[in-house]
Amino acid sequence: KTYTDYFFDEPAYNTHDGGYVPLVEPDTPENKLVVPELLKPDKDTATDTYYTVEALAGETQLLPGAKTKTWGYNTSLLGKAILFEKGKMIHIDLKNSLPELTTFHWHGLNVPGPYVDGGCHAPVYPGETKHIDFKVIQPAATLWLHAHPCPSTAEQVWHGLAAPVIVKDVEEAKLPFPRNYGVDDIPVVLQDRKFHEDNQWDYNADYDPDGVQGPTAMINGTVNSYFDVTTQRVRLRFLDGANRREWRLHFSDDLVFTQIASDGGILPEPVKFTHLMLTCAERAEVIVDFKDYKPGSEVTLYSDDVPIMKFKVHEFKPDNVELPDHLVDINNPEATPDAPIHHIVMSGMDEEVMMDDKKFGMQRIDSTQQLGNVEYWDVTNTNDMEGGMVHPYHMHGTQFLVISRNGHEPYPNEHGYKDTVGVNPGETVRLKVWFDYAGVFMYHCHIIEHEDGGMMAQLEVIDPEHPQTYKLMDHHTL
Ligand code: C2O
Ligand code: CU
Ligand code: CU
Repeated sequence: KTYTDYFFDEPAYNTHDGGYVPLVEPDTPENKLVVPELLKPDKDTATDTYYTVEALAGETQLLPGAKTKTWGYNTSLLGKAILFEKGKMIHIDLKNSLPELTTFHWHGLNVPGPYVDGGCHAPVYPGETKHIDFKVIQPAATLWLHAHPCPSTAEQVWHGLAAPVIVKDVEEAKLPFPRNYGVDDIPVVLQDRKFHEDNQWDYNADYDPDGVQGPTAMINGTVNSYFDVTTQRVRLRFLDGANRREWRLHFSDDLVFTQIASDGGILPEPVKFTHLMLTCAERAEVIVDFKDYKPGSEVTLYSDDVPIMKFKVHEFKPDNVELPDHLVDINNPEATPDAPIHHIVMSGMDEEVMMDDKKFGMQRIDSTQQLGNVEYWDVTNTNDMEGGMVHPYHMHGTQFLVISRNGHEPYPNEHGYKDTVGVNPGETVRLKVWFDYAGVFMYHCHIIEHEDGGMMAQLEVIDPEHPQTYKLMDHHTL
């Protein structure tokens, strides 16, 4: 079966927002898509990998003329891609060379909270280096690293602090997927920016409490990008790395593409469609098959009706691999009998955004879950202002399963692990959630200005056998 429309409903699209900023096709020359370099380990053994991840300020040539002042991890914009192998111990020096405090949040990574996880309780001050160690215990996936200091996550991500993180494992290695990094397997970080005078970004000038947007699509930090297709099949690891924008992706000729992975790993079954909508922080790995295109032809990727990237097809060897109908088994543990059901309410827009009628409190624990329990979380988006909007709900420290949407089946591409789920106005999404580690973890809307604006809360995962206390920051200690 091939789906031919987006799974989300049209009335929920951000195009209906009062402050919606439509994308505009740039009139500047086209640029070869930047594929982030892989970060070189400081040291790599059969069991351990050592990295230094440095947040730094730099300049990037994005448009003709002046360079844009940007931030990045180990490079001037976004970041080098960071590779983790399942089963290995990872040791990372987190170095802050920025003029202000930052944190290093591993979005989607199952690690202990709140320090290794890198949310707001794990500040690294300017000039400081902190060290974290963790074991990679989850399946192959596309995750990401981004800044998460409260309440300036949105501004720091806007400056450029977002990098792809790729987890590999032996199961993924057995599947007939393209995996030659940079050639037929590439991260595609979708963002949008507004360029002001001298090609600079101006977060404050563009500020919108419902999420900052810009009219220019920027992919992997490239404006008006194209990619050279040299293989029949190309694997795109889409990440919605925008502060607010939803991407409604489709190719010219309504080319069918196949999703093979969601946020937390490979899907149980591949899903074929012509249209894919991503909300903030969501990932989708897809395979695009260019078999029907001759060398010299061009395939365009659109969001809504605006071209955002071109694929220039070159000579390639035939590669008519059929994907199996079943890709991987998903662990779907029984919910713990008698465990409480969590009810989470995201409400409001603009400055009024709240989680459970409260603004985020850095020192307040809003929910608890016992380590080892599998519990339902019912997440509601109350549709109480102007038709409402989709809130992408994200939880740290877990990859959950989407069980239902208002009692109905989740979308066809939601049968794998997720850490972020778009919740429509007026909808309750039921999640099945469990944790591998104790700790304090945040959960929030991933429209980043909503998160900074207080549509965020935190839970403590409690291991009754090893009770712990955590040093929680407050806004004043920042
Ligand atoms: Cu992308 Cu609190 O995270
Ligand atoms: Cu996260
Ligand atoms: Cu929101």
